[in-house]
Amino acid sequence: MTDTFKYKLASTYRTLDINGTKLLKVRKLVRDCKMDLPWGDEKTVKFVTNVGLITSNGPDGHNIQAAEWTHHVSYSPGLIAVCLGKDRTTRENILATKEFGVSLAAADQNIMSSVAGGSHGKDVDKIKALEELGFKFYKAKKINTLMVEGAALNAECKVVNVIELGDHTMFVGEVQEATAGKKEPLVYHGLKFWKLGEAITKPAVSELGKIKSTVEKFRKAG
Ligand SMILES: Cc1cc2nc3c(=O)[nH]c(=O)nc-3n(C[C@H](O)[C@H](O)[C@H](O)COP(=O)(O)O)c2cc1C
Repeated sequence: MTDTFKYKLASTYRTLDINGTKLLKVRKLVRDCKMDLPWGDEKTVKFVTNVGLITSNGPDGHNIQAAEWTHHVSYSPGLIAVCLGKDRTTRENILATKEFGVSLAAADQNIMSSVAGGSHGKDVDKIKALEELGFKFYKAKKINTLMVEGAALNAECKVVNVIELGDHTMFVGEVQEATAGKKEPLVYHGLKFWKLGEAITKPAVSELGKIKSTVEKFRKAG
């Protein structure tokens, strides 16, 4: 039984005690209940993601958190979305300031990613800790945050949309300034950090021809 289901069942019982239609409502609830995809579940860990190092500066001061749910979502305008849990210090900072930095972790920034994702900015000055560990930051040009030196990509964002999605909040940021670094991005998969491996070679020309003609065979009319 998933946590969402248990919660819905418990709250349904509470309300049903008042109106007396207990059985019917519980049956409907069982029928309608969707699946959770919990952290660490064998299905959840199939995704392959980047590690966004999200920088912010708000009521809790300068901060950094790791966010694998960091996505490029529009070319024009350039938009990047980050999904943050409700208890994140970064979330509070961004709600207050409406801006955030995205430094996509480079392949050699796994330790930085662990530190950024290992405690809350309310409790720990992660920027100072990282500086003491030898990592460097620079001041963003268009927003009032720090950015990570040596990242695969640095993008300074102003919030254009805040969307509550289940147990996370999505912040969509419009990119004000961006620079690509020389290093490859760090990969996150199966709760581990990885380096990019070999590119898969394209099929031979004869195979490509066969694939193309098969697709053409099923082109819809009009
Ligand atoms: C590799 C990695 C990826 C993570 N991805 C996310 C994510 O996408 N969204 C999120 O809210 N938290 C994510 N976390 C957890 C946060 O980084 C963690 O809760 C952190 O302590 C939040 O910091 P803050 O409270 O200072 O903002 C991730 C952690 C790690 C190590």
